[in-house]
Amino acid sequence: MSKINVAIIGGTGYTGVELIRLLSRHPHVTISHLTSRSEKGRVVSEIFPSLLGVCDVVYSDMTDDVMDEIGKACDVVFFATPHGVAMSHTPRLIAQRVKVIDLGADFRLQDLGEFGKWYGLEHTCPDVLAEAVYGLPEIHREKIKSAKVIANPGCYPTTAILGLKPVIDTQNSADKPLILPNIIIDAKSGVSGAGRNAKMNLLFSELSDNFSAYGVAGHRHTPEISQGVHAFLGSKFTQKVRFVPHLVPMIRGMFSTIHLTLTDDGKALNWQEIFEKVYQNEPFVDVLAKGVLPDTRSVRASNRLKIAVHQDDDALTVLVVQDNLVKGASGQAVQNMNILCGFDEMCGLGVDFGGCAVVP
Ligand SMILES: NC(=O)c1ccc[n+]([C@@H]2O[C@H](COP(=O)([O-])OP(=O)(O)OC[C@H]3O[C@@H](n4cnc5c(N)ncnc54)[C@H](OP(=O)(O)O)[C@@H]3O)[C@@H](O)[C@H]2O)c1
Repeated sequence: MSKINVAIIGGTGYTGVELIRLLSRHPHVTISHLTSRSEKGRVVSEIFPSLLGVCDVVYSDMTDDVMDEIGKACDVVFFATPHGVAMSHTPRLIAQRVKVIDLGADFRLQDLGEFGKWYGLEHTCPDVLAEAVYGLPEIHREKIKSAKVIANPGCYPTTAILGLKPVIDTQNSADKPLILPNIIIDAKSGVSGAGRNAKMNLLFSELSDNFSAYGVAGHRHTPEISQGVHAFLGSKFTQKVRFVPHLVPMIRGMFSTIHLTLTDDGKALNWQEIFEKVYQNEPFVDVLAKGVLPDTRSVRASNRLKIAVHQDDDALTVLVVQDNLVKGASGQAVQNMNILCGFDEMCGLGVDFGGCAVVP
């Protein structure tokens, strides 16, 4: 099979460098272009020595000429940039027949009002947004195959939506409510979730030996979780989702604990069996054996998401772990590219690199 050319826009950030790590070893991919405004002219391994001998591409600035060249040379372009960047370039790229995978938020929320409210920007290409596919393979695999633009999901929403999917699927085919109205998602992320830039609260002396909540009054991922569970999954699912994220003093990893209260009809079901059945054919979702609890180290640098289910009378607790930079971002983006391009879905993602991660 011939190789495809890909570009990574924002190739010096945490998710961009994870993409380099994964795509450099992908048998069907050549990384032809990397952009960075601050590191233009420098070779990747000068900045990330662990990529010496793995990737020797030189960073380019994001000029119009470079973007035009990328449009002509590339089959797939990844945007690993802050929100607002991808939507400025995507219409031109898709006109050049390039497929776009945005790791940012520009194409995630279908409701323009919600996008404006949470991201403080007016959407510049609502027609492209309307056709974009939310790239969560476990729910949209068929749509991803023919997408022009893929909105790679947010990290917290990936854990929340996949943690709730078996419950919602079961509710959809039930006559009576199985769970009570309130669902609580208590989530924790490592610091790399905030990106590779200088912020006071991310200083070592502020963050280490510390543990804090944020976004309690409202977080951008709440409408995305809501869209996932109500619009994409839940025809009969009206329950409200409450989401509180926390920052924990570790570099990478994410742990979401979802608390649900079962009705008498819900209590009568065997949720361990339901979760196992829903995910039995999913290559990157593991349902742990009854009584086994997940931890973030077990998914470090891997594209696997692990779920444990604990049922105790009317309490159903779903525990989900992933690496925020891999299944929560770059690994999922590669999984989406594999589906889009007709490669084996696990290609380039089957091996867990553990200690070889670029971001330690
Ligand atoms: N970190 C995570 O765990 C995670 C998980 C899921 C999704 N995401 C999303 O993925 C995207 C990237 O996240 P990240 O954590 O990798 O961010 P990051 O570490 O801050 O990196 C951002 C990258 O984008 C470039 N950039 C910044 N502003 C730009 C602009 N205006 N135009 C062009 N390039 C620009 C930066 O390089 P230069 O400034 O040198 O150009 C850098 O390479 C974000 O939208 C984020 O929300 C992140």
